[in-house]
Amino acid sequence: MSDTATSKSPIIAAVTEKDVSSAVAIAGHPIHAMAVHFPIALAVATLGADVFYWWSADPFWERAGLWAAGFAFATAVGASLVGTMELLMVPGIRARAASWTHAIAAMMFVSIVGLNWGVRLAVPNAVLPLGLVLSALGAVFTGLAGWHGGKLILHHGVGIMVSDQE
Ligand code: HEM
Repeated sequence: MSDTATSKSPIIAAVTEKDVSSAVAIAGHPIHAMAVHFPIALAVATLGADVFYWWSADPFWERAGLWAAGFAFATAVGASLVGTMELLMVPGIRARAASWTHAIAAMMFVSIVGLNWGVRLAVPNAVLPLGLVLSALGAVFTGLAGWHGGKLILHHGVGIMVSDQE
C-alpha cells in the first residue's frame, strides 16, 4: 500500500494515533526488551548442549541441557508476563495485529521450551532424539518470536523514546 493510500485510511489513522509508550519500563526502557535476551540465549544454549551430547556422549552435556532448558523456560515465563502486561495495558500495542502475532509465536515458543524441560525431568536419557528435536524446534520459534518482537519496535515504534537532546 502506498504512503498516500495509508494516510487516507481512517482505520490505520485511528491505530497510529494510539499511544505506544512502554507501560512496564525503568526510566523509559521497556523491561520486556531487556528480559527477552535470557530465554533466547538459553534456548539456543540448550540446542548447543544437545548437539555436543550427540557428538561426544559426555553426560556433562546432558546435565547442561537440562539446566539450560529449565532456565530457558523460567526466564521465558517471566519475560512473557511482562510482555502480556504491555499488551493489555498499552492501547497502541493492543490495537496492532503485529502484537498478537508476536504473542502467539511467543506462546508457542514458551510451550516448546517448557515441554523440552519437562521431558528431560520426567524421562531418563530423553536427549536423543526427542530432546534434540524439541531444542531445534525451540530455536526456530525463538527466531519467529524474536523477529515479530523486533518488528514491534523497529516497524511500529513501540516503546521508543526520542530524546530532544543532541
Ligand atoms: C505473550 C507473551 C509476550 C507478549 C505479549 C510480548 C509482547 C511484546 C511487546 C509489547 C514488545 C514491544 C516492546 C515492549 O513494549 O516491551 C515485545 C518486544 C519483543 N519481544 Fe515480546 N512478548 C511476549 C513474549 C516474548 C518472548 C517469550 C520472547 C522471546 C523469544 C519475546 C521476544 C521479543 C523481542 C526480541 C522483542 C524486541 C525487543 C528489542 O528489539 O529490543 N517476547 N514483545
